[in-house]
Amino acid sequence: MTRHFLRDDSITPSEQREILALAEELKRDRWSQKPLEGPQTVAVIFDKSSTRTRVSFAVGIADLGGSPLIISTASSQLGGKETPSDTARVLERQVSAIVWRTYAQEGLEQMAQGTCVPVVNALSDDFHPCQLLADLLTIREHKGETAGLTMSFFGDGRSNMAHSYVLAGVMAGMHVRVVSPEAYAPRADVVADARRLAEETGGSISLVSDAEEGARGADVVVTDTWVSMGKEDEKQQRLRDLIGYKVTQRVMSWADPEAIFIHCLPADRGYEVDTEVIDGPQSVIWDEAENRLHAQKALLVWLLRQQEA
Ligand code: CP
Ligand code: NVA
Repeated sequence: MTRHFLRDDSITPSEQREILALAEELKRDRWSQKPLEGPQTVAVIFDKSSTRTRVSFAVGIADLGGSPLIISTASSQLGGKETPSDTARVLERQVSAIVWRTYAQEGLEQMAQGTCVPVVNALSDDFHPCQLLADLLTIREHKGETAGLTMSFFGDGRSNMAHSYVLAGVMAGMHVRVVSPEAYAPRADVVADARRLAEETGGSISLVSDAEEGARGADVVVTDTWVSMGKEDEKQQRLRDLIGYKVTQRVMSWADPEAIFIHCLPADRGYEVDTEVIDGPQSVIWDEAENRLHAQKALLVWLLRQQEA
């Protein structure tokens, strides 16, 4: 049966654990799985810029025995010229999976509805679920079991990253705090979905506007750019609104002494995070960036297995 990965909760908590365990296995033995041998092709489409996602999917697909086809929307017929579902109907005759970085979540849903190959969200305005698989893998490596840990996200709580931390973190049994001004709180429907998941996993979600309260005792401190792709026009306003939510050494001092710092990157150093923190001893950002490779390979292996089930 075709499964898609459009949001963090497109999979169940136990499927999330299965994919993370597979990622750990693939990290230990990088070339052990070749489900794309042939080579079969995976289309990786970008409406927005990317370094990590582009490289990790291209390398990962090659590691799995396949061939990545990187498509820039500007030089394709997507993006107003052809619908996502028509595009998918063309691609599915030739590729084994479609990975897409785009703006509207709705476009991904339309693409997934129209095709018999797995569609993967490589970042939309609403979610970045591939990043969360890598982040959970990183947290497991540095902190052990995720269940019961407290993770505090600082900054734009309405961003794709915040939404993904809320859903995927709660799925992993974590206590997720979103530390932001009220006007930048996560979307109510995402919070409601997370609360439903929390009943199953024992995790929780809380919205906090006081930075010290948000950081207190946290095991994982995380932030992201204040100006996500597509929000450039709001830059000056955002810098003013979010200045009190910068991750500084002071913020880290309120967290657990063993806390780790993560950031999906790219970082605007000096804005959402101080250089001393991102380059400091608690930061594990380079492991996190590497883990995009292992986590996404595991995801592709898992999605391809579901095709056979
Ligand atoms: N973290 C992340 O998705 O990075 P890129 O925008 O470089 O792909
Ligand atoms: N929130 C950021 C993440 C970049 C990987 C953005 O959407 O630009």
